[in-house]
Amino acid sequence: MASQFYKKLIDNNTKWVQEKTLENPDFFKELSKGQQPPLLWIGCADSRVPPNQIVGTDPGEIFVHRNIANLVVHNDLNMLSVLEYAVNVLKVKHVIVCGHYGCGGVQAAMGDHSYGIIDNWLINIKDVYHNHKNELIKLEKEDERFDRLVELNVHEQVQNLAKTTIVQSAWKNKQDLKIHGWIFELETGKIKDLNIDMNTNKDLNKIFKFDL
Ligand code: CO
Repeated sequence: MASQFYKKLIDNNTKWVQEKTLENPDFFKELSKGQQPPLLWIGCADSRVPPNQIVGTDPGEIFVHRNIANLVVHNDLNMLSVLEYAVNVLKVKHVIVCGHYGCGGVQAAMGDHSYGIIDNWLINIKDVYHNHKNELIKLEKEDERFDRLVELNVHEQVQNLAKTTIVQSAWKNKQDLKIHGWIFELETGKIKDLNIDMNTNKDLNKIFKFDL
């Protein structure tokens, strides 16, 4: 039997369509014509971090890719396809990697418990921990290490974006494209900009720069 929650969904949709149409009678007509979002959002799959709601945008404004712990993994065909389409076809001007404090994926990566297949996905975060262990072990409290790893993980994923040929090609071709790292704070609803924007590959280590 369908739950009350499930039964409400279509009713909610009906109400939403009415509200949107009341605001702008042509809203859905315009929506159906096509999309030109200025932003690609790479976020965590966590249900508490819904991109459009937390930054107050409408349908058509954000192209979205979400996975556990907002990772940019270079052999993830799904992520690469989204990124390529967003950069080369939609010509987004911004890519935001948005992590969040209290991220279950990051927390799991800090421990030794095996959860199954996901362990292999989370190794990417264990690598981030390992690369920054000197900084992390100086933090006495587990909570502080957790918060810092959430930040370091976003930083790493922004770097990972910059290492792709997709992003480096766009920069080489003088495309207006900036990548950003943000953290969403569940306890306040506020976004913290880590101020790690990149719009060139000049700060990447030489080994990661392509001759495009
Ligand atoms: Co998360």
